[in-house]
Amino acid sequence: MVESGFIITIDGPAGVGKTTLARRLAAHLNIAYLDTGAMFRAVAWKLGQDGWLKDEQTLARELKRMSFTLTGQGEESSVCLNGKALGPEIRTETIGLWASNVAKLRVVRDFLKKAQQEIGRQTSLVAEGRDMGTVVFPHARYKFFLDASAQVRARRRYLQILDLDEDDPEAQGIEDSPELKTILEQIKQRDEQDRNRAIAPLRPAKDAIVIDTSDLTLDEVFLLMKNYLNL
Ligand code: C5P
Repeated sequence: MVESGFIITIDGPAGVGKTTLARRLAAHLNIAYLDTGAMFRAVAWKLGQDGWLKDEQTLARELKRMSFTLTGQGEESSVCLNGKALGPEIRTETIGLWASNVAKLRVVRDFLKKAQQEIGRQTSLVAEGRDMGTVVFPHARYKFFLDASAQVRARRRYLQILDLDEDDPEAQGIEDSPELKTILEQIKQRDEQDRNRAIAPLRPAKDAIVIDTSDLTLDEVFLLMKNYLNL
């Protein structure tokens, strides 16, 4: 039994497997899972193309109309914007890039940090993102930072899009695909922005458990995490 207010953070770059692992861990612990990337994506999507170029007053006004809540537990956890669950429209790489631009803005980060901390006050969480262990939940009970090379992450993303497993025979021939190259470029651009921004850049918290997942399967990473948690 996990007491309320129990928080585990999982941070790391795009495509490292945070979402799948956070979901699995939350389901295992029977607590909620918070996908904070989805919150940045939803804000970017609501603000529209080039939304991050709006002036601060306009942004503040538009953010005031957005209210985030979390429903459900484990695999069923769902982030809602103004009472409506977020859909697949926020999941594209383009919206990921918009989100990364919006995520540089203090007004957006402050707004989402408050919303995330409020959710963390209400329920126990596995919280996944870029700054969970460093900024939003610095007192979390356990902090993980997952990493992997950009090549490995792009390949995983592409296999996910193709709905293929790593050991699928078709997975062997994807190396030269132009789509994979595009995904790699997008991932590198997002990495560069997320690691080098002035506010809440992507980096491990001092007390985070860092796992390089490049040569590990998701099952192996999950096992490692459970071992660290003594589960
Ligand atoms: O995790 P996901 O790829 O959905 O996140 C989309 C973008 O949102 C990231 O590239 C990052 O710029 C931003 N983000 C952030 N802080 C978080 C979660 C996401 O800056 N805690």
